[in-house]
Amino acid sequence: MALRQILNDNHPVLRSPAREVKNINKGLLRLLDDMLETMHDASGVGLAANQVGVSKRVLVASSGEESVIELINPCCLQAEGEEVGVEGCLSVPGQYGEVSRAEKITLLALNREGHEICIKAEGLLARILQHEIDHLDGVLFTDKALRLIDPEEMQGEEKSEEKDGEKS
Ligand code: NI
Repeated sequence: MALRQILNDNHPVLRSPAREVKNINKGLLRLLDDMLETMHDASGVGLAANQVGVSKRVLVASSGEESVIELINPCCLQAEGEEVGVEGCLSVPGQYGEVSRAEKITLLALNREGHEICIKAEGLLARILQHEIDHLDGVLFTDKALRLIDPEEMQGEEKSEEKDGEKS
């Protein structure tokens, strides 16, 4: 495993839709391993492959409540409800914002064995997964934020709402 460099928001690969994965080979498994290591090293809760410069529809996530999730070619089947929460992004250092997301989602994806899996998520995990799928579509949370929050204000928010403002 190896750490990969996380690109920032003015890199073009973050602004292009990532390509569908056709083959789950050794290189792809190495990418998944590296992405997990890179996410943990950066204390993030999610990471999309194009954040490390690879234009493939691959994401990893860990909300802390359950084990790590790895998804290949994720697609959203269903979205319910709406919730506004604070988000940050490993590719947009120092910036936070309030973003409206679906409260519950159902996704279809492939796992690392190439099997089709269905994931139901709500709350923080649903938010992380929507943020990562946006990355794969070339969209950043700053495009969607209802309001951007300056770092000083964020320090106050972090004290009161521990779960908010995770970076992914
Ligand atoms: Ni992000």
